[in-house]
Amino acid sequence: MSSKITIIGAGSVGSTIAYTLSNQDIASEIVLIDINKEKVAGEVMDIIQGTCFRDPINIKAGEYEDAKDSNIVIITSGIARKPGQTRIELAQTNVNILKDITPKIVKEAPNALYVIVSNPVDIMTYVFTKISGLPENQVVGSGTILDTARLRCGLAEHFDIAQKNIHAYVFGEHGDTSFIPWSRAHISCANIDEYTTLMNNIGKEIPTLDKDAMLEYVQKSGGKIIANKGATFYAVSASVCRLCGLLLSAYDSTATVSSMMHGEYGIDDVCLSTLSMIGPNGLKGKVPVPLTDEEVEKLKKSADALKSVIAQIEL
Ligand code: 2OP
Repeated sequence: MSSKITIIGAGSVGSTIAYTLSNQDIASEIVLIDINKEKVAGEVMDIIQGTCFRDPINIKAGEYEDAKDSNIVIITSGIARKPGQTRIELAQTNVNILKDITPKIVKEAPNALYVIVSNPVDIMTYVFTKISGLPENQVVGSGTILDTARLRCGLAEHFDIAQKNIHAYVFGEHGDTSFIPWSRAHISCANIDEYTTLMNNIGKEIPTLDKDAMLEYVQKSGGKIIANKGATFYAVSASVCRLCGLLLSAYDSTATVSSMMHGEYGIDDVCLSTLSMIGPNGLKGKVPVPLTDEEVEKLKKSADALKSVIAQIEL
């Protein structure tokens, strides 16, 4: 596939995205940009030297000008979340960094699809959407694509079933107010409770799922990984590479990504994740999946939490 992907930020997440892409057939050209020239040179050298076992791929450390003609630009810049810190506490620092980067990169790659990964990702996606001047179809935040991956991982383990058979999603903020719309969660073609009964009927004993504990597992995973090893980067990178693959594919797909709300579920002027349609031209829009009243309330609570942060930051 001949696609060019530029990654801004060569920290753990940006570099791991570059490394993950270097092991897949999503991009033919990867540009990694960072203000720390030594670090980015080292990361690129390390990644290139691992590519001798695959078809040629062009990877380089670059400047903003090198982002020209990118199909996708991924923004990972910012200070990483520290142990005990919430994603929201990071907001103003990372917004300031984004404000510096945005005009420089948009000038060079005005037609690229932008994937915002820096945390707090919903706030950063909102700010980028507002200040970049780009059409909204060109902007998505990685949002709860990672939380959804964590949910599928947890459910696959609980139900002892392949992740590809699980169709369940995390909506809302990539953070403490996210929630799982269980009314839409399925394993194969059965809802979660039906599936448990079906399995028990054929002699595969499955304990009743503790849904609150599963949400807690999803929400606390990032913090737990940070507490254990100082940062999270593998699963988020795998999720972002999957997102790039969907954006560069010839057909549309659904995924939970963060983007601007325009009245869906009664929510406006905030970025968060619900099921969205994405494809070759970027974001096609939110898929208006029916939710229960209780689930809509949870989504509104998530929107309100994000809006209160937006109200506190200097744009
Ligand atoms: C995560 O959830 C830190 O947002 C990052 O892994």
